[in-house]
Amino acid sequence: MDRRKTVFFATSNIGKVEEAEITLKEYGILLLHLPMKLIEIQSDNLEEIAVFSAQKAWENQGKPLFVEDAGLFIKELNGFPGPYSSYVFKTISNEGILKLMSDKRNRAAYFQSVIAFCNGKSTTTFKGEVRGKISKEIRGGHGFGFDPIFIPEEGDGRTFGEMDISEKTAISHRTKALKKFAEWIKSLDYSKFI
Ligand code: IMP
Repeated sequence: MDRRKTVFFATSNIGKVEEAEITLKEYGILLLHLPMKLIEIQSDNLEEIAVFSAQKAWENQGKPLFVEDAGLFIKELNGFPGPYSSYVFKTISNEGILKLMSDKRNRAAYFQSVIAFCNGKSTTTFKGEVRGKISKEIRGGHGFGFDPIFIPEEGDGRTFGEMDISEKTAISHRTKALKKFAEWIKSLDYSKFI
């Protein structure tokens, strides 16, 4: 029998699952994917969106689980697309963001990730951020979403899209949130908690 602590990740994004598996494995935590489309409310706040989605997913699945909500915040665009990242990616995508940024000298941006874990009794959140800038063109075929236009500050000038998954997860916003989450899970008497 696998004696590792087990956590369920409710998401329809397989890219997120692959990234989360790498980090949680380092903490000896077993990740199980619950493939499902999450219900997302409209809000200016990623944490509010994540908490709501986690609670709805818990109602649907009846299992302790976590969700993760992320957004790309661009300084010169006053934080846009931020909490609307999913809709913006679906509509104007990376090409549209590059057009909006075409006359901007300051290309600073950051990704934020919020994890919300719900056990039916309470919901706990964990945040991570990575700072960087928007590239001038689309570069790289790895990852997903805005990866090909985001150059992390901690990297070597390549976009996330030009990095393989282990390079991205070494520095990403998601990893930072996942590490806080994993530390917390490790510290719990999990059998009583869930
Ligand atoms: P979600 O609501 O967290 O699924 O993500 C909002 C939007 O941001 C989606 O279009 C994702 O593809 C994109 N996104 C989320 N996380 C990342 C990431 O780590 N890299 C690039 N794009 C991301």
